[in-house]
Amino acid sequence: MDLHFETPVLKYWGFKEDPFEDFILQGESLRLFVCRHYELHRLHNALNTRCIGVYGTHGVGKSSFLRKFEKKIKHTGLVVAYVRLAGSTEKALYREILAAILQCHSEKKIKTGKEFKLNSREESKRVDSSIRVAKELEFGAVSVMKAGVKQAKEILSAPHDEDSARLLISKIIANTKTAFVVIVDDLERMEYFLKNRISYARFIAGFVRTVGDLFSRQGVAFVVSLDKGFVDQIGHKMPHDEGEALFSFEELVELPNFLPQELADMIRKRLNDRKWGKTLGDFISPDAFWGLMLATGGHPRKGFGVLRMAMQYVEMRKKPRKLDMESIKEGLKGRPDSIDDKDLTIVQFLSIPGSHSASDKDFQKAVGLGRTSLLNRLQALTYRLGLEVAAERIGTTTKDVYSLPEIKFYV
Ligand SMILES: Nc1ncnc2c1ncn2[C@@H]1O[C@H](COP(=O)(O)OP(=O)(O)OP(=O)(O)O)[C@@H](O)[C@H]1O
Ligand SMILES: [Mg+2]
Repeated sequence: MDLHFETPVLKYWGFKEDPFEDFILQGESLRLFVCRHYELHRLHNALNTRCIGVYGTHGVGKSSFLRKFEKKIKHTGLVVAYVRLAGSTEKALYREILAAILQCHSEKKIKTGKEFKLNSREESKRVDSSIRVAKELEFGAVSVMKAGVKQAKEILSAPHDEDSARLLISKIIANTKTAFVVIVDDLERMEYFLKNRISYARFIAGFVRTVGDLFSRQGVAFVVSLDKGFVDQIGHKMPHDEGEALFSFEELVELPNFLPQELADMIRKRLNDRKWGKTLGDFISPDAFWGLMLATGGHPRKGFGVLRMAMQYVEMRKKPRKLDMESIKEGLKGRPDSIDDKDLTIVQFLSIPGSHSASDKDFQKAVGLGRTSLLNRLQALTYRLGLEVAAERIGTTTKDVYSLPEIKFYV
């Protein structure tokens, strides 16, 4: 049974559980997963390459995506060794990977040739306790310092270190009779434990090289998470060697922010799951939704954060239980994101039925911009909000007319 608090805001809104709680979707909660069909398909098709990076900004949904992918390919009978880096040290990377592979081996999901003797349970013990000691030492736990290390050394006749772990992984890969995928989530977190971007680049480059040199085998693929800022820098600011090595990610799959319809689906799904029992439009007014979309760009973690704060604002003021523009603006207070008023006016104008173009004088007047500036804004919004554009013919000339993508708020 899940435990949760009945907080004042949830009570006021009539929810037992927070609809916008931020958690990685996995197991049962994957029922809340939306979209990403294209990216899932691309990643699936990329499995014949050895090393694939999945990247996006913080909180855009990398971990949830990797969990969904794991589920999808397990469904097709593929074996997956899933590694979620505990995040305490970059020094245990290969041991963490080895532990996941050994787990699959001891469960007989990964089978190796008879001539290769592998006692996965014994090796698991060697690797697990050595990871634990590495982590505890990293945190400087006093008890471990005093007694644990001595004790651990006694228990572990030959604990794995990174080199021995790397070697054993390569042997397992060389001897495997089962195709398998290794997913390494949170690899991008290692950036926080390394001194700077360059050390991090070296660390990633070293990993990619190791996969290429030691772990390369048809039927074994590595999928790792990376952050967007880092990938965008590849080949630009990185020292030559690291930039080059990073290019050996044979495939890079980007996870973008969500489009308005997708964010709407995500919110609707969460509301339904928490037994809201009404429509999306009864929860958030269309213009407040567009405000949220403009401020967060369709980023789920940012969006959920604003919704939670807006719900609290409504609860504290004892206002009717529906998010309007005011509550969204309140929810944005103290955050780095904000709603650009001109963009909001554009969206509001586009929501009036009819065709609208940058040469429309009423449109220009409402926004307070000339034709060229309005056109630039519309083009930028087309990319961000997925505005629909159609060419309309008037006499001998054509002009682009823009409309908002249709969101079904009241079904
Ligand atoms: N496809 C999706 N469908 C529904 N919700 C999603 C989806 N992707 C992400 N989310 C939600 O967005 C939030 C962030 O997701 P997640 O933790 O997977 O992102 P992340 O990129 O791994 O974050 P971090 O950078 O902190 O590791 C979570 O609340 C998650 O439930
Ligand atoms: Mg994550």
